[in-house]
Amino acid sequence: MHFRMNLCKEDQTRSLVHYERGSKQLSFVFQTMTSARLAHAKVSCKREKTSHTSLLASYFLRMHHVLTADQFSRADLDRIMQRSAEMEAILKQGGTKMCDGKILGALFYEPSTRTRLSFETAMLRLGGSVISESDVTFSSQSKGEVIEDTIRIVGGYSDVIAIRTKVKGEAKVAAHYSPVPVLNGGDGSGEHPTQSLLDLYTIVKHHNIGNEPLNIAFVGDLKYGRTVHSLAKILRNYEGVSLQFVAPEAIQMPSEYVNSRDSIHTTLTDEILQTADVIYDTRMQKERFEDIEQFNQVKNAFIFTPEMVHKMKPDATLMHPLPRVNEIMQAVDSLPQARYFEQALNGVPIRMALIAEALEV
Ligand code: CP
Repeated sequence: MHFRMNLCKEDQTRSLVHYERGSKQLSFVFQTMTSARLAHAKVSCKREKTSHTSLLASYFLRMHHVLTADQFSRADLDRIMQRSAEMEAILKQGGTKMCDGKILGALFYEPSTRTRLSFETAMLRLGGSVISESDVTFSSQSKGEVIEDTIRIVGGYSDVIAIRTKVKGEAKVAAHYSPVPVLNGGDGSGEHPTQSLLDLYTIVKHHNIGNEPLNIAFVGDLKYGRTVHSLAKILRNYEGVSLQFVAPEAIQMPSEYVNSRDSIHTTLTDEILQTADVIYDTRMQKERFEDIEQFNQVKNAFIFTPEMVHKMKPDATLMHPLPRVNEIMQAVDSLPQARYFEQALNGVPIRMALIAEALEV
């Protein structure tokens, strides 16, 4: 791991970090340092007898934000999968006290059942506590407060923040202003990286990913469905994974998530059903369509029936991030390929592992 950092001389509130990990190179410009973060860094600097610059750089790298699937190397993924398996064992024993005295701030500005409640469950099972804002009507955001201000304050109340925003990219903005780690629970039509980790965990449990060829088909609203954006990125870390994107043209996978080896389809054929090892279905994201007519044209494009699922391999996995509307019939739920409820439950050990990493416990 290597990084460079320059601080603006006239006021040490702006910084540039150049960060390299393996083949990945990222440059961050922190336009504003929060006073809390700067003060903490200065105190640590004094304690650790190191330069302000290198201390600040290491401080940033120690902030275990989870913002995008891009940030994970294969080694990170292996470590998180291992830690989540350990958390699953701890869960079976009723939990732990390793986060005793720590507080999770849950800021959810879009509806959520699984992500918010599994984050909260994860923190409670780790022995910590939760403060939660789950209805924007009762939040000062409804009075016009900007995320930069909210995050500074809630970051002062809590030790780690899980956030869901309506706006693509806003979790990264929050992280820039937060004095504590930020875990992105979905940013508009952007990404949902913690979901993609629980998706990966589900795949790892049932398939030999990385060691044998794995044919994964994404089906549904691939344009607005943020879970598929993050999962497609995560899967690039594994040898032998081939991706197929199945969606009407208007809601196909955005080009930034597609590479030349992927295959693109507009219809869900028997061949796709019969050859896929994993099918990842998604809901049509009605709330994100600008044109309701366009939504009406695609809303029933794919509806999984028992007859369709019977065509899948017996050991294949049918996944869905949930909630579903009509895209998988309830009669499918009892079939062996249907693993979407197990998938959702995997959110607890994954989020326990992420919180533990963020808090360095
Ligand atoms: N999968 C998922 O993000 O579900 P919720 O919207 O219920 O959090």
